[in-house]
Amino acid sequence: MKRVRKAVFPVGGLGTRFLPATKAIPKEMLPVVDKPLIQYAVDEAREAGIEQMIFVTGRGKSAIEDHFDIAYELESTMADRGKALDAIAGTRFAPGAVAYVRQQEPNGLGHAIWCARDIVGDEPFAILLADELMTGTPGCMKQMVDAYAEIGGNLVCGYEVAPEETRDYGVIDPGEVRGALVEVRGLVEKPPPGTAPSNLMIPGRYILQPEVMRILDRQERGAGGEIQLTDAMAEMIGRAPFYAMRFTGRRFDCGSKAGFIEANLALALEHPDIAPHIRAFLAKI
Ligand code: UTP
Repeated sequence: MKRVRKAVFPVGGLGTRFLPATKAIPKEMLPVVDKPLIQYAVDEAREAGIEQMIFVTGRGKSAIEDHFDIAYELESTMADRGKALDAIAGTRFAPGAVAYVRQQEPNGLGHAIWCARDIVGDEPFAILLADELMTGTPGCMKQMVDAYAEIGGNLVCGYEVAPEETRDYGVIDPGEVRGALVEVRGLVEKPPPGTAPSNLMIPGRYILQPEVMRILDRQERGAGGEIQLTDAMAEMIGRAPFYAMRFTGRRFDCGSKAGFIEANLALALEHPDIAPHIRAFLAKI
């Protein structure tokens, strides 16, 4: 079984729910406390042993490339002033360990993943959506890579939400349960209220076989007229093992304003430098 070495980060979306903040800067560069969302996802992938990071970008996303590049002026000015560079230590990749591909039109998540097909090649790969901030020890992708090493096939993260929330997500039709793993019998994108087959949604973490690219080659459009990753994954059910790994850490939907603010508050309350101040401020208001 091939190891998971590559991760795709689709960052080509328009982020319309965050306008006007995301008119000129990518949603993935919005900071939670002091780190942009995309860096939380990259750190999670690194912890999982991923070696090659593939970003599927779009117009107006160059801040992401700059964030993960050398900043000569900043670094030399900081060095001249005797400031430690620790704060930007995680923003560098080893030479050749990062690739960028441009999704010219935001035709959906499935389309974004398909744009990375030649860089992914013929091996299993991870997908991380940076606007879903997942925290846990070990991290979500590390847990998934470890589970994948046991079972192979296709593996998605499964996260329990309240029944009234399932209408917003891709939801799992569950089969046999093996510890934290749940067999995936079917997948439904945004089920109408009262029709969801479970409360287990997929929060933007996947390990998929390269076969998904052959399905996406057909460019079939689904919900919202977009090329949906959920539809392509649904076709692979039954051809290879397909499981969801129930994640019990925390998830913040940072693609929504409320989730983004929740993430900032929760992580600020764990940040040693600012936690007492924030706690006192929250009590006051
Ligand atoms: P969303 O559904 O959150 O869409 O995409 P969005 O455009 O980012 O945000 P809103 O809904 O307009 O506010 C989920 C993930 O898929 C990526 C997004 O960047 C995000 O990480 N995506 C989506 C693409 O890369 N390309 C697309 O065409 C669509």
